[in-house]
Amino acid sequence: MQIKNFSSITEIAEYVTKEFINQIQQKPNSIFYFATGQTQIPIYQKLVELAKESETSFKEVTAFNLDEYLGVSHDSPNSFLLYMRQHLYDSIDIRDENIHCPNGVADDATEEAKKYKELLTKAGPADICLLGIGPNGHIAFNEPGSFFDSTARVVDLTDITRQTNFPEIRKLNQTPNQAITIGISEIMASKRIVQTITGEHKLDILKKFLNTNLTTDLPATVLKSHPNYELVTDQKTLADQLLR
Ligand code: GLP
Repeated sequence: MQIKNFSSITEIAEYVTKEFINQIQQKPNSIFYFATGQTQIPIYQKLVELAKESETSFKEVTAFNLDEYLGVSHDSPNSFLLYMRQHLYDSIDIRDENIHCPNGVADDATEEAKKYKELLTKAGPADICLLGIGPNGHIAFNEPGSFFDSTARVVDLTDITRQTNFPEIRKLNQTPNQAITIGISEIMASKRIVQTITGEHKLDILKKFLNTNLTTDLPATVLKSHPNYELVTDQKTLADQLLR
């Protein structure tokens, strides 16, 4: 595990995007797993800029979303695919057929998850898997209790995840309660994992994560056993202190 501390989100975005661009320059048909969430927005913004500046083409790149809510169609404002289109895909030259995301309104969600798992097995592993972290330590939508050998599947979302991801909705029963997520074993099969944890509101979980050994109670801890895992954070003081 490597920890990279930066003093600002801008610096983080610069670092992470350079890594993606370098990867494409070395291997134009790279495979990426992309996370959604507020944390990644400045990163995708910078990636669009840098791709333009460096004239890097995403034509051969294959991209997988980590997850999608059940009951949410790809054109809904809550869709993670729509998020990726708005923040990245629509501004780069990636081919539509190389963009993958589970269909949240498939007739049979279990079958859809199985298809996604097969697709990941066929195309994967990722050259770079970009992750964030949930307040309870979830990665993608692998909530606490997820087995380390889990694969893409339908999962129940915890109340804390639903509350955090839909702060504007007061009634919990109006938020999606399930999702299709890539599993922990598919994340761990990635050649390289970059996890970004930024902002004051992530201090508690960052601290817990750094102080906890591998446990399914805090799914992100599994990443510590990956041979090529980097934690990228702007929590300089905290991380320095904890590492001392
Ligand atoms: C969602 C996604 C996760 C992401 C998390 C954190 O729950 N499924 O992949 O890591 O949000 O999001 P944010 O960056 O907004 O804190």
